[in-house]
Amino acid sequence: MGLLDGKKGIITGALDEQSIAWKVAEKAHAEGAQILLTNAPVALRMGKLNELAEKTGSQIVGADATSLEDLNKLYDVASEQFGKVDFLLHSIGMSVNVRKGKAYTDLNYDWLQKTYDISSISFHKMMQLAYQRDLFNEWGSIVALSYVAAQRTFPDYSDMSEAKALLESYARTFGYYYGKKAKVRVNTISQSPTPTTAGSGVKGFQEMLDFAEKMSPLGNATADDCANLCIMLFSNYTRRITMQNLYSDGGFSSMGVSPELLGA
Ligand code: NAI
Repeated sequence: MGLLDGKKGIITGALDEQSIAWKVAEKAHAEGAQILLTNAPVALRMGKLNELAEKTGSQIVGADATSLEDLNKLYDVASEQFGKVDFLLHSIGMSVNVRKGKAYTDLNYDWLQKTYDISSISFHKMMQLAYQRDLFNEWGSIVALSYVAAQRTFPDYSDMSEAKALLESYARTFGYYYGKKAKVRVNTISQSPTPTTAGSGVKGFQEMLDFAEKMSPLGNATADDCANLCIMLFSNYTRRITMQNLYSDGGFSSMGVSPELLGA
């Protein structure tokens, strides 16, 4: 439909075909955008991202999203290639505590810092640098991906729950500053559990997926559904939607009880 004709954007976090960011990159390209792909150097070593870069005619820049130096280099390339950019997807999350099965009541606090640094503070860093460098065109759009554990208790989501709460808060507060400065909007999308590398790392993931499927009148939102919403938020049709957390969850977050789950 050409929803993003002429727009230029940066997409983080595409690891493989399952990644939500992978679908966003494919759709952004199909809708007419030019994109720059980035991921952590360790993820690039897998080599999968080259396929996506080829498919979408885009360049890849390795950047650890916790490193201001790396992010500055990423933005140098973006400025050289595009001048200014119109959209940014933050699709980055990782908890060592979750990955190593450390209990929430016995967190390793060094790892907790890492969780926040990678999953939340990186979002602030990406926005702060872009803000200071005046990287965005007016009416630009920034989106980060979140999960309903920011509002409700999902014990096995562990320290990622607070990481997502922080991420959503950054969208609201930075949304104010970026809106005032350059009419740039900042939103988060709270997505259903989705079978990806990051998602599957959570203990009992399959059970969470099944539970959410039964709890959601429309069923779980897929990575494709999430990508469609990202495209909508990057497009000109959502210019005055900002500082919001939008649920892409088939209705899950509004449910109280599900007759399907009660076996009724
Ligand atoms: P994924 O594993 O495909 O993507 C996560 C990405 O984060 C990977 O590409 C990884 O290389 C990148 N990453 C990790 N550390 C990094 C660092 N230091 N610097 C730069 N990149 C780094 O998994 P998925 O599910 O596509 O995750 C994308 C986002 O969606 C994450 O924020 C995740 O928390 C969120 N999300 C995922 C859900 C799910 O069930 N899969 C549900 C709701 C939100």
